[in-house]
Amino acid sequence: MSTADEQSDSQAEDCTAEQGALAGYVAQFPNPSALKKAASQTREAGFKEFDCYVPFPVHGIDEAIGIKMTRLPYIVLVCAVIGATTAIALQFFTNAFDYKYIISGKPFFSIPANIPITFELSVLFSAFGALLGMLALNKLPQFYNRLFLLDPFLKATSSGFFLAIEAKDPKFHETDTKTFLNSLQPSDVVTCREPNENVKIPKILLPIAACILILGLVPLVLIAKMRVTPQTTPRVELVHDMDYQPKLKTQRFSRMFADGRGMRPPIPGTLARGDLQHDTSFYEGLLPDQEDQVDRNHLLPNAKNADGTSVSLDKLPWVSEIPIPVDEKLMARGQERFNIYCAVCHGLSGKGDGIITQRAMKLQAANPNVGTWLLPIPLYSEPVRKQKVGQLFNTITHGVRKMPSYGAQVPVKDRWAIVLYLRALQESGSGMINDIPADIREKLNAEPKE
Ligand code: HEC
Repeated sequence: MSTADEQSDSQAEDCTAEQGALAGYVAQFPNPSALKKAASQTREAGFKEFDCYVPFPVHGIDEAIGIKMTRLPYIVLVCAVIGATTAIALQFFTNAFDYKYIISGKPFFSIPANIPITFELSVLFSAFGALLGMLALNKLPQFYNRLFLLDPFLKATSSGFFLAIEAKDPKFHETDTKTFLNSLQPSDVVTCREPNENVKIPKILLPIAACILILGLVPLVLIAKMRVTPQTTPRVELVHDMDYQPKLKTQRFSRMFADGRGMRPPIPGTLARGDLQHDTSFYEGLLPDQEDQVDRNHLLPNAKNADGTSVSLDKLPWVSEIPIPVDEKLMARGQERFNIYCAVCHGLSGKGDGIITQRAMKLQAANPNVGTWLLPIPLYSEPVRKQKVGQLFNTITHGVRKMPSYGAQVPVKDRWAIVLYLRALQESGSGMINDIPADIREKLNAEPKE
């Protein structure tokens, strides 16, 4: 079909067979430059509600139409800020306000620790903002566009260059606008009408959609009901193998063994690989040549002798030297571990003024009936200073009297590092002014007193 034929066809039909209300005029142009020129003239003529439709990006067409920069970046920015604020507020509320929980003396609220979630939520909110904002600005989703009814318009995806002025433009006039478009030298001007009012969604679709919607809610209602109704029958197991796997779980019952325990104690006289702790000085702080005389129950807190008297821990054959090479690195490690595990009660200096102790004393003063809190003695006091390193090691491993054990949290080598640092704390905590070299002492004295 030649171009002339097409033109006469479309003009004769004038957009659609049904004569709905006038929606606008669509002018077709032979090439991008003609369209661009027409667009600027339309803009200069004062039209606002018009747009160009082209099969490929045309340079300069945005300026010709007068399209302003998209507002999408601002939407995304606002979403990112909301995301970051939400994340910080959430973390503040949960960690520092609603459920304060001391974890190794770390601060409740700290920006570095909050960065990952803040970053993630900013990105998530921006992504939603970008997608939904783009859809909203483009007025999408739109399932139907009356321009698609125009015969020549479909060429906008292959070879057509169109300019459409909408009837809702304040400057629009039924005849003047058409004359104006014709003055722009288009190859064709087509009248576009609103689709016939009688075209409606078939009535039957509405009840069907309602049924589908209601059916879709049924599973949710069933699930909600199941959650609150006690059942007397066993639940339905869709994948039985997944619910009952041929393995034993920790602390669970098992039918396989006569005593019903899923977890098996080690067979007497055997050891798992790597569990042999033959070096008693390293693993227990006991002298290797006397360790076989020690009843291991006596190492535990509040141990009693056979006659009911308390075990005297000081008398056990403890090692008096740290059984691993001692260097600055071990000392630094010991300081770090002490500050993490011990300082909460004993205080950073070992004085016994850690934050837990302080709070316990405060609570006790406010309400004497809450129970008693035992003040840990200063770690640099005489009785603790006199203890051999093996006994200090044992105190960390098993705890002592009221102090809980830290053997499960602190690995053996770290325990020795802490013992080393304890010795340093004792040295500094019990030092006398004469222990300081004379020249530094003078400097200290010169320091202004408060
Ligand atoms: C939960 C609080 C708490 C923590 C944490 C804690 N201690 Fe203690 N510690 C105590 C208390 C309380 C005592 C006094 C126990 C008593 O006399 O009944 C004590 C006593 C001691 C003693 C003296 C033992 C003796 O024979 O008199 C030493 C040494 C000691 N702690 C070392 C440590 C080390 C090292 C750590 C870190 C691994 C640590 N503590 C962590 C509460 C704590």
